[in-house]
Amino acid sequence: MSVDVVRDGGVAVVTVNRPDAMNALDVEHAEALRDHLEDLAADPEARVVLLTGAGDKAFVAGADIKYMQSLGVLEARRWGELGQACANLLETIPKPTIAAINGYALGGGCELALACDIRLASNRAKLGQPEVNLGIIPGWGGSQRLPRIVGLGFAKEIVFSGRAVEANEAHEWGLVNQIYDPAELMPAALKLAHELAKKSPLALAYAKEATNLYLTGEASAHMETELRLFAMLFSSEDQKEGMAAFAEKREPEFHGR
Ligand code: CAA
Repeated sequence: MSVDVVRDGGVAVVTVNRPDAMNALDVEHAEALRDHLEDLAADPEARVVLLTGAGDKAFVAGADIKYMQSLGVLEARRWGELGQACANLLETIPKPTIAAINGYALGGGCELALACDIRLASNRAKLGQPEVNLGIIPGWGGSQRLPRIVGLGFAKEIVFSGRAVEANEAHEWGLVNQIYDPAELMPAALKLAHELAKKSPLALAYAKEATNLYLTGEASAHMETELRLFAMLFSSEDQKEGMAAFAEKREPEFHGR
């Protein structure tokens, strides 16, 4: 159980390594991810960051639901801030970030992938924002990044239904850039990462800064609103019911309070 960083020349491969829980992020893993990303942001030897999950089932199956079950509003806000910090780093560090989506990328896992510059996926990957099934909403930037990438109509369908999207469909909507046979995913992701690592780091940093201007305007205010709404739902019975139902492996019954 860890978040591992392995250097391959100028490429830093960051692996969320908690396969027993489908690489879901608890506080320890989320803090480790944030700390590694902060170190890599400042490290000139790391030219490209490649994010993936350990094992062959999951990229990251979201925030740890069992941890979140008993959170109050203030704790949920801090938790949302930590996840948003990880996602913001992936989006803003001055070097390319690539998600190699090797399996389930759900909830916070999908949100981390959405924050990466480029998304490559196994054809067995499934992506989605199932928060509504837990009585909450995406809190790590998904409400803002998903519509920007796939358009408002498809984003609303995904967020409202909570359904997991198969890799093929994700590719059709531009949610992932390319799909590969599972065995081909990491070789392809590393090939792209090494190609980018050979380019001028200055030009890439400025290219990222310039293309990210597309995100400015109200983006940070909207992230703050998302955080407030996400945290507020932790005062509801529906959130307690949704997360208890997940832990007890049963269907939730929501009453709108
Ligand atoms: N949190 C905590 N534990 C999780 C988890 C999560 N997000 N996802 C999977 N696990 C655990 C399961 O509880 C299970 O543990 P036990 O062996 O102790 O029972 C183990 O990982 C293996 O999972 P499953 O037995 O469920 O495996 P499966 O192959 O039948 O299903 C899955 C895989 C579809 C990914 C299913 O585990 C699942 O639906 N997970 C939850 C996904 C989810 O709802 N993610 C969003 C979380 S909310 C969020 O992220 C909020 C936000 O915006 C930040």
